[in-house]
Amino acid sequence: MNKQNAKTAVVSAGELEEQKQYVSRVHSAISALYNGKPKACVITYGCQQNVADSEKIKGMLELMGYDFTDDRFEAKLIIFNTCAVREHAEDRVFGNVGALKNYKREHPDAVLALCGCMMQQQHIADKIKKSYPFVDLVFGTHVIHRLPELLYKTLTGKKRVFEIPDTDGIIAEGIPVKRDSDAKAWLPVMYGCNNFCSYCIVPYVRGRERSREKAEIIKEFKTLVSQGYKEITLLGQNVNSYGKDLTPCVSFAELLRELNALDGDFRIRFMTSHPKDCTKELIETMASCDKVAQHLHLPFQSGSNRVLGAMNRRYTREQYLELIHYARKLMGDELSVTSDVIVGFPGETYEEFKETLSLVEEVKATSLFTFIYSPRKGTPAAEMDDPVPASEKSKWFKKLTDLQERISAEQMALHKGKIYKCYVYGKGKLADNYVAARNDGNLIIEFEGDESLIGTFQNIKVIEPLTFVMRGEIVKEKQ
Ligand code: SAH
Ligand code: SF4
Ligand code: F3S
Repeated sequence: MNKQNAKTAVVSAGELEEQKQYVSRVHSAISALYNGKPKACVITYGCQQNVADSEKIKGMLELMGYDFTDDRFEAKLIIFNTCAVREHAEDRVFGNVGALKNYKREHPDAVLALCGCMMQQQHIADKIKKSYPFVDLVFGTHVIHRLPELLYKTLTGKKRVFEIPDTDGIIAEGIPVKRDSDAKAWLPVMYGCNNFCSYCIVPYVRGRERSREKAEIIKEFKTLVSQGYKEITLLGQNVNSYGKDLTPCVSFAELLRELNALDGDFRIRFMTSHPKDCTKELIETMASCDKVAQHLHLPFQSGSNRVLGAMNRRYTREQYLELIHYARKLMGDELSVTSDVIVGFPGETYEEFKETLSLVEEVKATSLFTFIYSPRKGTPAAEMDDPVPASEKSKWFKKLTDLQERISAEQMALHKGKIYKCYVYGKGKLADNYVAARNDGNLIIEFEGDESLIGTFQNIKVIEPLTFVMRGEIVKEKQ
């Protein structure tokens, strides 16, 4: 997107004002339709970007007069915010929506709505239109801010509402947000993706990259800090592209430094970084900013340069390793690396898969998110020859997860005796009198402690690394 388009993509104050009027209209419509406050159930699939969108949806629904429930069978409004990244994610949505057919028949006054990335695909919207007649409202990723208007039309009109404009995407500021947690918050800094990795649907359903103005991000960040949020995660499909479309340009590293300099006791996280745009400046910024978590989520996807080329990732294994070595040099053991890996990309050979295994050995990630390749309609990879059978891919996948399990255990063992500043986020699972905390590297450490510690930072010494969590004890000073 060029700079001019990026500007015109911002939703105007007038449009947002119009939506406010629809908020009042929905308010009146639901008081006429239902006895008392109706309940809404918002079910979210997919990544943090979707979680952040659902928090906006809930923010708007609250204004419109809805209460909330986790039980879809007592809701007057059920919204599925869907993900399209793999077939499995889509199958789950179809299954769950299908299971509501009877509920809708017995409760004709309930509204069933579908939104999110899956709905942004025309073939899916068509399928819903044809085969799921009990779905009342379908809307795409670029019109979330118009929920009041769309819901009003659904509640008062006779027809089903489908609103899926195909645009490069918009930025809507000032939407109310009802956050799921009082302690950690998601803060999208940019939307969309321009990378078009050959297997990935995200650029098609989320539009082009567009950055929020730095001043808007700082304003929201300060509000979060003043509200007591201690862990704030900056979100973007590729945060390293942040600010390239702004006038004047701002780098993501610059944004991090400005946020780091704000007053308050908080920790900044961010995801996801793309190796092709991950700069040494960013790594240096992570190392030098005391409030920026020493956690780098840097997906490599494959260890074979041929496969990386076919994936259109635009970096090599060697370039990836150089970044990891540089980050480890600056941040040492404090740094936690996590990554995403795809097994069974079309045409990947066993030899090439073994290169992924050897890269996994070299990277020594704390943990990996591993996926078997899933063809996505409309992407270049879906048209490629894919001769390796699913059963074979499953065997490779098992090899990969076994290897990472060993590496994760080795990595965990290195933490024994170390002391970390940790954010205590909730009750523990190891025992009734335990609470759970996260260190900078996103590792979970549980320790004996009172629930009053929840919401504070504490220094915790690791006593015993277990498989996924570590057992620790509270200490006075970080040594
Ligand atoms: N923007 C992020 C990740 C977005 S999707 C990035 O570029 O790293 C999260 C992960 O899902 C990807 O990193 C990839 O590992 C996986 N993924 C995406 N499309 C996939 C597909 N078609 N099949 C299997 N895994 C996929
Ligand atoms: Fe998908 Fe690649 Fe964009 Fe990540 S960078 S969202 S994997 S296209
Ligand atoms: Fe899924 Fe959309 Fe996120 S496809 S992974 S919810 S951006």
